Amino acid sequence: MSTLADEAADVAGILDDLAGAGAEAEFLDRVRRHLPRLHGLFGRLYGDRPDALDRLRSVVALAAESWHARPEPLKELDRERERRPDWFQSQRMLGGVCYVDRYGGGLAGIRERIPYFRELGLTYLHLMPLFESPEGNSDGGYAVSSYRRVNPRLGSMAELADLAAELREAGISLVVDFIFNHTSNEHEWARKAVAGVAGYEDFYLIFPDRTLPDAYERTTREIFPDDHPGSFVQLPDGRWIWATFYSFQWDLNYANPAVFQAMAGEMLFLANQGVEVLRMDAVAFIWKRFGTACESLPEAHLLLQAFNAVLRMAAPSLLFKSEAIVHPDEVAEYISPDECQLSYNPLQMALTWEALATRDGRMLQQALERRHALPDGTAWVNYVRSHDDIGWTFADEDAAEFGIDGYPHRRFLNDFYVGRAPGSFARGVPFQENPRTGDARVTGTTASLAGIEAGDDGGEDRVVLAHALALSTGGIPLLYLGDEVAQLNDYSYEDDPAQAGDSRWVHRPHRPEREYARRNDPRTAAGRVFARLTTLISARRDAPELAGNELRPFDAHDDHVVGFLRPGPDSAILVLANVGDHPVEVDALTLSGLDPDARDLIGGRAVSLRDGLVLAAHEVVWHRVVIR
Ligand code: GLC
Repeated sequence: MSTLADEAADVAGILDDLAGAGAEAEFLDRVRRHLPRLHGLFGRLYGDRPDALDRLRSVVALAAESWHARPEPLKELDRERERRPDWFQSQRMLGGVCYVDRYGGGLAGIRERIPYFRELGLTYLHLMPLFESPEGNSDGGYAVSSYRRVNPRLGSMAELADLAAELREAGISLVVDFIFNHTSNEHEWARKAVAGVAGYEDFYLIFPDRTLPDAYERTTREIFPDDHPGSFVQLPDGRWIWATFYSFQWDLNYANPAVFQAMAGEMLFLANQGVEVLRMDAVAFIWKRFGTACESLPEAHLLLQAFNAVLRMAAPSLLFKSEAIVHPDEVAEYISPDECQLSYNPLQMALTWEALATRDGRMLQQALERRHALPDGTAWVNYVRSHDDIGWTFADEDAAEFGIDGYPHRRFLNDFYVGRAPGSFARGVPFQENPRTGDARVTGTTASLAGIEAGDDGGEDRVVLAHALALSTGGIPLLYLGDEVAQLNDYSYEDDPAQAGDSRWVHRPHRPEREYARRNDPRTAAGRVFARLTTLISARRDAPELAGNELRPFDAHDDHVVGFLRPGPDSAILVLANVGDHPVEVDALTLSGLDPDARDLIGGRAVSLRDGLVLAAHEVVWHRVVIR
């Protein structure tokens, strides 16, 4: 065993080995560019381990094998994306997300939906976890038993690779989850770790008694308190194992470089199936250190950067999307071209709902001013809701500037969205309510949260408003498929024992066939919402100003109005959204910095700003303007 030594010497040694083994020039060139970085990261993560250099060598060997086996069309994609690294910044990018079984019955059914995905204009399709996982409750597939086998109910890995190729043909990038913080308790590594098989003992965090778990839990937070208190669960033999989420999802021990090596192999395998974006699940939790919250530690970033460096060598067209649903300062830390190029934007999502409940756009406006900018080469994934609950992850210090106290405000928002607050239009369901801390989150489809289920007059407008924001602030907008036809909550999960304990199933309905059949019928909510959203989607596609992430706040001088400009080279798009229940006038003086002859992109007509403009309740405008 040898430990890491001098970077130049180690890198030269590895390169010599690769060249001796006949590695191709193109691969060697990438190794030359990225191995020094990986070496540095390994040094910081594993520098004190005697096996660090051997592990690094093995990881590079995996990358070499993987490149060698990489199908030619994917290598071609790698080259193309290296030439055009900003490909995902286009205003033509549009994401959709769905469950394979619920939306298509299986991979074959998803394939049959490709014409619809094209009709909608999707360029990015996130298929929810589709790997082999335990029967019954598997946290919607987030408990993975094998990263190399597709759940046989859904199809096979060969079908997934074919689907990826067909999607690519249709201009759609396949996105799947990389659930690398934990595996299911049925994964081969988990079985071996529990049985004490040599080489696997340290794959997970197993403790003989409660001493260390108790000590760790003094500083960690409970994530799924409905399932088990704290962060550990007891094994049948009396020992305790780290399980942040469900008791059958066991956290991996990344302090062990063998775990990094093993996971890098799984990642490269998925890359070669034609996956183009990996959604990096639960990134905040991947590194643990005693005496801390064990969330978003510096090593979590080093690990992601190390995985990223491996990809840059062997599958450089892939992108990482960070799933960090935490304080906005922490969310931002994961986003960089060397770490995660994409990230969910949970703050914009949550504050859109916050604004609709309070009819006050100030917190959202402040977030757009202060927390929207991103480094070059990265983008937000903006969404209205996901398969998960809504957590109110705004920063208390931001709210305090408006005299808002975070704790009662979150309680109000939870009460509002589960329909407990007087005057609420929402029909959400509470998730993981913790009576001890008062903490809770909210689930529900967009239509149910926005008021359509409750029959509120503003419901459809709010669905459109929320999407109009996600479609115009920049980055990749992501639709939860079915929401574009105003699907409502599905309460049937309560009758399924594997789902009854997890209210997130309320907003994961099966493909709403009836709503889809009505999507061109303006007499139905499905038809009206679909028509309005597809109008927005096509207007966006034709507005190059909406590409990228640059956004300039626009002060409409009214707390009900969220406003910003998306500048392009010759013109800009002025976005104004009235989150209130009454019309609002934005006067001529406020608009006087803009040439008065504007074009309404949603209505497709010329408009004059000379006399100011009036926004109806919940109205959004996208006006192409020239800044004077
Ligand atoms: C992520 C997923 C969520 C899952 C958890 C554990 O947060 O989005 O659905 O429960 O990770 O894998």
